[in-house]
Amino acid sequence: MARYRAGESVSVTVEDLAYGGEGVGRAEGYVIFVPGGIPGDRLRVRLTQARPRFARGQVEAVEQSSPHRVEPPCPYFGRCGGCRLQHVDYQAQLAFKEKQVRDCLVRLGGLGEVPLAPIIGAPELYGYRNKMEFTIAEAAGQTVVGLHEAERYDVILDIERCLLQSDLLNAVLGEVRTFIRERGLPVYDPETEEGLLRFLMLREGKRSGEVMVNLVTASPRLAEARALAERLQARFPQVTAVVLNVNPKKASVALGVEEHPVAGRETIREHLGGLEFSISANSFFQTNTLQAERLFELVLEYAALTGTETVLDLYSGTGAISLLLARRCRAVYGIEVMAAPIEDAVRNARANGIANCTFLPGEVRHVLPELIRKGVRAEVVVADPPRAGFHPKALKATLTLAPRRIVYVSCNPSTLARDLGGLVRGGYRLEVVQPLDMFPHTPHIEAVARLERR
Ligand SMILES: C[S@@+](CC[C@H](N)C(=O)[O-])C[C@H]1O[C@@H](n2cnc3c(N)ncnc32)[C@H](O)[C@@H]1O
Repeated sequence: MARYRAGESVSVTVEDLAYGGEGVGRAEGYVIFVPGGIPGDRLRVRLTQARPRFARGQVEAVEQSSPHRVEPPCPYFGRCGGCRLQHVDYQAQLAFKEKQVRDCLVRLGGLGEVPLAPIIGAPELYGYRNKMEFTIAEAAGQTVVGLHEAERYDVILDIERCLLQSDLLNAVLGEVRTFIRERGLPVYDPETEEGLLRFLMLREGKRSGEVMVNLVTASPRLAEARALAERLQARFPQVTAVVLNVNPKKASVALGVEEHPVAGRETIREHLGGLEFSISANSFFQTNTLQAERLFELVLEYAALTGTETVLDLYSGTGAISLLLARRCRAVYGIEVMAAPIEDAVRNARANGIANCTFLPGEVRHVLPELIRKGVRAEVVVADPPRAGFHPKALKATLTLAPRRIVYVSCNPSTLARDLGGLVRGGYRLEVVQPLDMFPHTPHIEAVARLERR
């Protein structure tokens, strides 16, 4: 195997994409990661880092362009950390994601031959997000409202138009930026912990047309927030909820410790699968409404309910899956750690006239063993954990419960593979893994799996 040094210029043929979307190629057997490279490219690359087993390099020249290369429509592409695959044609993006799921299942799950179904593409390639979170920062003496630069958590790009959200949300974003600049409102500085503005979160009910504006600040400056709301509502009647979340803590998260309603309601509505959901600022809700509907149809199909079952919905969020399942089974228990989504779930159940759902607060690893101790049994378990997947104790409790069928929804192929491996070793047969693309142009991958007890 050849060995190169940092600073050298090398010709690389890109063969694959790594999990985050970087191109992976070889020069005389030596592995080289190339941001921006895609399979089929032959590139001249200047090495920026050279380790014994691999190197990383920057593209100096395209010697031969991949047939999958397309012109990215976004002017921020290459700098913004959001979309990393806009330069890859959509079919090749899908093939890459499907391969990632297969590789993870084989390498990390130890599952051998996997029953992988062909990936389902997204119905909309742009404007599909119903929620965007922008950081408010100071850059070159100016207030910017935007997204992190790729690999640079300290640099925020001022985003005038994000192609992943609707034109309406882009117009709202522009109005908020103008308001902040005109008023000269101070930006929060994480170093000194002084200043006010931290994040702007925009949400849109794709089916209801309602918009929520959630301003996250370090202290409660309600007068300013009211002035902003007045201005937004005068220009955009779709803005039906303006809330202020206060996060005085150093941790850079858009979640507030206190929430103040500023104008309109505290939630917005969204319709999905024939149900109406009201969503508050701090609740998880699937960010691609149309594709979430397909995802939930798959969950329903895989759960194959007959009407008599008790179902557990682990990591139930705002209860979207619970409520959709509830119409087809005897009872559903949802388990969710955060308070806001539980409140939303209870409200949503009531608003939709659903009386057979119970939402239990707490971590799955604690609440599930408690339920089992109380004698609750379930024929079907649906789990939709966060990226970290199952906690070992949650997996163990699921195996103790021993439902007939498990439907596992995942947003991280690595933890999906690990957990499916654990379930298969614990007595389940993996029937199918169905990847589907919720987030075109980003490396994120969603998949649903169905397991049956052996
Ligand atoms: C991917 S979301 C699933 C949401 C839900 N299925 C939906 O579609 O609305 C994961 C959820 O798990 C919750 N969560 C994270 N860790 C948890 C834990 N240890 N126990 C219970 N819930 C947890 C999060 O707050 C989030 O609402």
